[in-house]
Amino acid sequence: MSQYLSSNVNKVTTNTLQRMRNEGERIAMLTAYDYSIATLLDMAKIDVVLVGDSAANVMAGYKTTLPITLDEMIYHASSVVRAVKHALVVVDMPFGTYQGNSKMALSSAIRIMKESGADAIKLEGGSEVLESIDRILSAGIPVMGHLGLTPQSINKFGTYAVRATTEDEATALYENAKLLEQHGCFALVLEKIPATLAQKVTEALTIPTIGIGAGGATSGQVLVFHDMMGITQQFTPRFLRRYLNLSEEIVGAIEHYIQDVKEQNFPNASEQY
Ligand code: KIV
Repeated sequence: MSQYLSSNVNKVTTNTLQRMRNEGERIAMLTAYDYSIATLLDMAKIDVVLVGDSAANVMAGYKTTLPITLDEMIYHASSVVRAVKHALVVVDMPFGTYQGNSKMALSSAIRIMKESGADAIKLEGGSEVLESIDRILSAGIPVMGHLGLTPQSINKFGTYAVRATTEDEATALYENAKLLEQHGCFALVLEKIPATLAQKVTEALTIPTIGIGAGGATSGQVLVFHDMMGITQQFTPRFLRRYLNLSEEIVGAIEHYIQDVKEQNFPNASEQY
């Protein structure tokens, strides 16, 4: 059967997210970078899986998101896509693959879509990346915007502090959000901005907003999976709610295994052939 004929009617699409936003149903998004975790997210019926360039931090151990490459993002994205049947899969365009050159932006986005099978891409920035957004959209590729704390610009700002706290910055963010909607982005991530500003932007837009450290008025929320599960340790911003303390559990299990091996408690009689 052709891929078209076997398409999954229960799959979340950008239209589903728009309907959810219109009906006031909150959108839940989490990151995944590999097949096993993406399988669990999809079993739990998450709405959106983001293959974030935060993979640079949590998977590869880089200090910033800048070093991750297009090939590496495609590797992570294709692993996630193989697992996901229900959620919309959005992939971050990595630093250096879309800024300042809209033709390169389009060819990077096409590579992500073709080689990973993802449903949409996400990129950071406002007016400065509009030409790239226009060109990517012209190829029929859905684009999610990202304003506020944009980690790919960390070297410009020098800090991960809350963004848009001055009136000028707040006005600029608001205007960029309107521009991204006018140009056709299907949704917008708002990262680490005052809750009142996120509410104002959400009320001014018709597309969904997805917040991280942006308060409760956005159309949805996103967290990095490894942070909310307590796998990462050092990252403790105010907005992060930890749903598990997995690092403690995993280290405990590893210590138990080591002890069993040393004391010859593993394997036992029923664990061998
Ligand atoms: O890369 C990422 O994980 C992100 C989210 C924090 C929104 O962009």
